[in-house]
Amino acid sequence: MRTTLTRLIGCALLLVAQAGFAGLKADQPTVLITGANRGIGLEFTQQIAARGWNVIATARNPDEAAELQALAKKHPGLVIEKLDVTDHPGIDALAAQYKDQPIDVLISNAALTPRLKTAFSGKTAMIDYEVARKSFETNALGAIKVASTFLPHVIASQQKKIVFISSKGGSFAEGPKGPIMFEYRASKAALNMLVYSFSYETRGKGVTTIALSPGSVNTEPAPGEFGYGSKIRQPGAIEPPESVAGMLKVIDGLSTAQNGQFLDYKDGRVIPW
Ligand SMILES: NC(=O)c1ccc[n+]([C@@H]2O[C@H](COP(=O)([O-])OP(=O)(O)OC[C@H]3O[C@@H](n4cnc5c(N)ncnc54)[C@H](OP(=O)(O)O)[C@@H]3O)[C@@H](O)[C@H]2O)c1
Repeated sequence: MRTTLTRLIGCALLLVAQAGFAGLKADQPTVLITGANRGIGLEFTQQIAARGWNVIATARNPDEAAELQALAKKHPGLVIEKLDVTDHPGIDALAAQYKDQPIDVLISNAALTPRLKTAFSGKTAMIDYEVARKSFETNALGAIKVASTFLPHVIASQQKKIVFISSKGGSFAEGPKGPIMFEYRASKAALNMLVYSFSYETRGKGVTTIALSPGSVNTEPAPGEFGYGSKIRQPGAIEPPESVAGMLKVIDGLSTAQNGQFLDYKDGRVIPW
């Protein structure tokens, strides 16, 4: 009787070990994604989960993330966690929850893209300071807070990659010319500077930190998102599957020599800041 019980306990322990942390597979790379419930983040989740890798897919409202929940049912190794990147205690708590879980690739994707009627006014007097503050908090400060908090998890992993989804809109060299979308573009320029600065911290730790442009991608704002909520297709824009397939190719091929660079989704070309 005792032998049977001991065997059963042994089997149970073995199963837990094989399942890894919180349902993750111990023998697969693990990717953490912010803003995984829609747009580019959802597409990243889908393509990475389809590889059989673990995905910690975070969203600020998991209960409303129907597509993400449907994906989690299809893919063992895909776990959904609640995370608002402006909630610093929440970020600390999630990092503590996954304390012993290596994270191979951290994809900082969550962002606000305000669709303001004043986006093309060209007048600084028209800046919406509330939207600007939220954009900085989310797109720049939230992104760096997540990355710096999860840095030990990435250092503990095999691949050691931190990817910030930025935008050419934040580049002086290649962004659209002229004074448009102040709130968003300034927040992405701030993010780029934070990525550049953070790369000095990851250099020498074997971690590759990059900013990555997804291209111009047809994604839709959530209902009620700031401003007029345009669903108009951007001329010349690509669809999320193409953007994400390109970005994954770049991420797969990253080497530590690229630490601190801003790269393009298409071919990994360096985008000047
Ligand atoms: N689409 C493009 O053409 C384009 C071009 C250049 C760069 N990008 C960048 O690519 C990334 C993804 O863009 P997208 O087009 O997929 O955007 P999107 O469709 O607007 O999705 C944004 C995602 O970020 C999440 N998010 C917003 N605020 C958050 C917060 N405080 N905490 C956690 N999650 C938050 C959203 O969650 P909710 O559903 O809860 O709002 C949503 O999941 C962004 O960094 C964006 O700046 C996009």
